[in-house]
Amino acid sequence: MNNKIIVANWKMNPPTVKEAGVLFSDISSLAKNLKGKTVVICPPYPFLFISQKLKNKKIILGAQDISSFSSGAFTGEVSPKMLKDMGVRFVIAGHSERRSLGETDKIINEKISNSLKHKLSVILCVGEKDRDHDGKYLSFVEKQIKNCLNDITKPQLKNIIIAYEPVWAIGKNAVREATVEEFTEMRIFIRKVISDIYDSKVAHTIPILYGGSVNVENAKEFMEKGGADGLLVGRDSLNSKRFVGIINLIK
Ligand code: PGA
Repeated sequence: MNNKIIVANWKMNPPTVKEAGVLFSDISSLAKNLKGKTVVICPPYPFLFISQKLKNKKIILGAQDISSFSSGAFTGEVSPKMLKDMGVRFVIAGHSERRSLGETDKIINEKISNSLKHKLSVILCVGEKDRDHDGKYLSFVEKQIKNCLNDITKPQLKNIIIAYEPVWAIGKNAVREATVEEFTEMRIFIRKVISDIYDSKVAHTIPILYGGSVNVENAKEFMEKGGADGLLVGRDSLNSKRFVGIINLIK
């Protein structure tokens, strides 16, 4: 994937179908030049149908979660086939907000396998809760990657994107923003972990995104200085002008 990837994670927003429709169509009409860019919008499940209705071919639909089961008696779950039928092509797996609700690496691994089995691409989120001075955050992220990619084969890896999202830099309660240097170190480290599991060729091609308080002010730095292959945007994806501002900054 040579395109730069910009993912909007709307989380549990906006509150109404009407507002979701306005946000989606505003982003679609403002985002004109998407050459070399893959823009993925991940609305909450009930709003997935809006984009089907709006039919904007330039913007790709993603889901914020997926079931680890294929079909059957699983109350509240949403299957890969259902998502595909709604036009979804990407799925976020292992977001820290889902991990904090009890999702384990094992469950995330099952969700990834299930997504890949049904030809959905996966955005795997990893990231430590705290930064320590002894480098424990590196082994924490390494373990997350190894567990979540357990039994995922090398050919399957071409449908996986890794998003590094340090938990302490996410959301309005973020401790602080991450620095470009912190991201760069982690980006290199993630490639090493992938190289250890698979080989250096795939390690160099797997896209690595940055996420956590990304905004119009810092996006360019993470992309250009930090060498990110893309960005995962939370709060700033709920404002069409700011989100499209981020898209337009990316060369
Ligand atoms: P944020 O969220 O941009 O609001 O920090 C990012 C994320 O959780 O994916």
